[in-house]
Amino acid sequence: MGAVTGATMIATPDQQKRAAAREAALLVETGMYLGLGTGSTVEYFLDALSERIKAESLSITCVATSLVTERRAAELGIGVVPLSGMLDLAIDGADEVEFGTLHLIKGLGGALLREKQIAESARQFVVIADESKLVRRLGERTPLPVEIVDFAVERTIARIGDIGLPGVLRMSDAATPYRTDNGNRIVDCTMAVAMTPPVLEATLKTIAGVVETGLFTHGCAAAIIGMTDGSTRRF
Ligand code: 5RP
Repeated sequence: MGAVTGATMIATPDQQKRAAAREAALLVETGMYLGLGTGSTVEYFLDALSERIKAESLSITCVATSLVTERRAAELGIGVVPLSGMLDLAIDGADEVEFGTLHLIKGLGGALLREKQIAESARQFVVIADESKLVRRLGERTPLPVEIVDFAVERTIARIGDIGLPGVLRMSDAATPYRTDNGNRIVDCTMAVAMTPPVLEATLKTIAGVVETGLFTHGCAAAIIGMTDGSTRRF
């Protein structure tokens, strides 16, 4: 249970994530071809989904955005297949959700490339998150992850810096750069640039060496947010 102060319940971030995830699990219908995101909020979604599969004998086909999600799904008895064709629904977390536009920053978990492939393939792409992820302007609270090829890394980082996004190479430990499921690197960038997110996303993609950006600027149909007061809200 969350903490109660006076008459107000304060739900913890984990409780907010779980509430959003459980609501999203209700969107799943038998027969669906479903995209599974990555991250701690999605883990709650997988738990809720597996409960529904067992309780209601739901038959669904799933695609995973990361090896971590694939493994967790397998532990819960949810098999995954490769992505092919259009998905009915994809559910994923986010690092920031911009109030009003539903533009997103994703990729702190490193899965942004497959996440975007699955988001783009979904007839309905729904984000689940805790209230801290809601922002007035993208870049307020998190860096922007950009996936780059493992060749001429310093040059690519410098080119990204030239357009107003100073960045640092993500490390797994002091000596080892982080490697994505696709064998690429990630640069975590500060959004010190006055470009709208769709323009910034397109500009980044013109740089040779950039594979994908964590800006998701179209296609998010809804965000289900677990609120600190224990409720969920749909934006
Ligand atoms: C992974 C992501 C995640 O969806 C994002 O980092 C949110 O994670 P969490 O639910 O743990 O807060 O984009 O690449």
